Amino acid sequence: MKLIVGNWKLNPSTLNEAVALASGVNYALKVEDFERMVLLPPFIFLEELAKKFKQIVWGAQDVFWEARGAYTGEVSLAMLKDAGVTWVLIGHSERRRIFGESDEDVNKKIKAALAQDFNVIAAVGELQRGDGADEVVDSFKKSAAGLDPADLARLTVAYEPVWAISTTPGAQADSPARSNQIIGELKHTAFKMFGEPSKKIRFLYGGSVTSENALKFLSQPYIDGALVGGASLLVEEFTTIISSAN
Ligand code: PGA
Repeated sequence: MKLIVGNWKLNPSTLNEAVALASGVNYALKVEDFERMVLLPPFIFLEELAKKFKQIVWGAQDVFWEARGAYTGEVSLAMLKDAGVTWVLIGHSERRRIFGESDEDVNKKIKAALAQDFNVIAAVGELQRGDGADEVVDSFKKSAAGLDPADLARLTVAYEPVWAISTTPGAQADSPARSNQIIGELKHTAFKMFGEPSKKIRFLYGGSVTSENALKFLSQPYIDGALVGGASLLVEEFTTIISSAN
């Protein structure tokens, strides 16, 4: 089963709009679609949305690894759990680039979240078009270092070439064949790190996925789903992508 994750990023601006978006998606989906979709709204809307739309699987766009204390502005795993959230995205390229998160920070967050029984989506990707796979593989190795193989069934890795993310100037989706090949390399790397249990990790592609190109990515052998940004804010566009995951 392919997995589609909708990352709303810093959108929309009001709870009313967030409820309208969730309700549009909720209405358009078939019962079986809810199993293959996770939505990631901003923190502040999460609790209300999780209460209102119980069929939808909700996740946060980030989390901090410490449980409590003097960490102004941060949100803990216990707080997410209390809000009814079981999924979390960690290490998105915008967190890494704009907010300075390193592979080591990402690694601490992944370990903390898996230890608390969360499902984790960990993102990796190279900055420039033309950068080789080495940078991505290296970032994956550092981000996933020392994970407990028993937790890998709850790990999803999103390969997101930064140059292909729709808000990067001049962005264009990667070619499905190239991203399939990079994900193949990541799967091979994961196998070298963790052996057989690595086969439980899901690998998604992210970067300008639309209703038009979704099927081309989702039909690649190594690609287990998609992380969708911009297109997840448009109900029809997003629900068409979900039907391509069928
Ligand atoms: P995009 O974003 O689909 O708008 O390119 C993907 C992401 O950054 O999650």
